[in-house]
Amino acid sequence: MAPEVVDVRILVTGGTGQLGSAVVARLRAADEEVRVLSRRAGPEVVRGDLRTGRGIDSAVAGVDAVVHCATDYFGRETQLARTLIEAARWAGTPHLVYVSIVGVDRVPLGYYRAKHETEQLFATSGLPYTIQRATQFHGLVRAILTGASRLPVLPVPRISFQPVDVRDVARRLTGQALADPAGRAPDFGGPEILTVAELARALGEATGRHRRTVPVKVPGATFRAYAGGGHLAPGHREGEITFREYLAERADHG
Ligand SMILES: NC(=O)c1ccc[n+]([C@@H]2O[C@H](COP(=O)([O-])OP(=O)(O)OC[C@H]3O[C@@H](n4cnc5c(N)ncnc54)[C@H](OP(=O)(O)O)[C@@H]3O)[C@@H](O)[C@H]2O)c1
Repeated sequence: MAPEVVDVRILVTGGTGQLGSAVVARLRAADEEVRVLSRRAGPEVVRGDLRTGRGIDSAVAGVDAVVHCATDYFGRETQLARTLIEAARWAGTPHLVYVSIVGVDRVPLGYYRAKHETEQLFATSGLPYTIQRATQFHGLVRAILTGASRLPVLPVPRISFQPVDVRDVARRLTGQALADPAGRAPDFGGPEILTVAELARALGEATGRHRRTVPVKVPGATFRAYAGGGHLAPGHREGEITFREYLAERADHG
């Protein structure tokens, strides 16, 4: 008997990461055929490295769409995208969905600049593409606050965040991967915009560890951009899971 042919349709790069694993879970729950790219061997992954190009041609072969959640924090974001775009050109031109960050063109951080440049690579690739910018994930905001909470007093700059749950972002991305290319899609943000002081209070309530806070003024263009709300999407509060709900779940599950 001939072996069953599995028609893999969607590749998720970074499918082992925070956001990518939520995308994979959602696609699998919807019975979509998913391939996960990782540099490391593991169950149900295709091995490949977007920095060197190793394994990428076979990872991309035969897919209808790629949700590109892989990222490089050390200056190689554009290199990863170039490898993917080049492989996709030879592999039947799948729809490429790129995840970016709200404000990459407004906040002067090196990582943001690289993401903005990468958006332009997709937009000028000649391939079908969707670019989805999202606000900061709950996990990142929690990690920053937890790190700062180790100090004797918690420094609180006059900045707000609009944290979003990766499951909500995954819902948007999976819908896009299964739909026609949208080009630059409207931003996607969390349900609430909260000051750092409010976020710190929520974390304190969830953990029972209340820290004394001290307001701080942070100099520099990056903080000015954050203070001006360059990373926020007030008109796009489409995420549903709040920061408090996210923290409560973590307390439930240890
Ligand atoms: N964190 C936030 O607040 C936030 C907000 C908005 C948008 N975003 C964007 O969302 C995306 C996902 O972020 P995340 O926080 O989920 O990332 P993450 O958890 O740090 O995961 C990064 C992923 O990239 C993969 N990767 C790294 N280098 C690779 C390479 N050379 N070849 C192949 N895969 C590689 C890793 O896979 P292996 O280690 O398994 O190889 C890992 O799965 C990023 O583009 C980020 O900019 C993040």
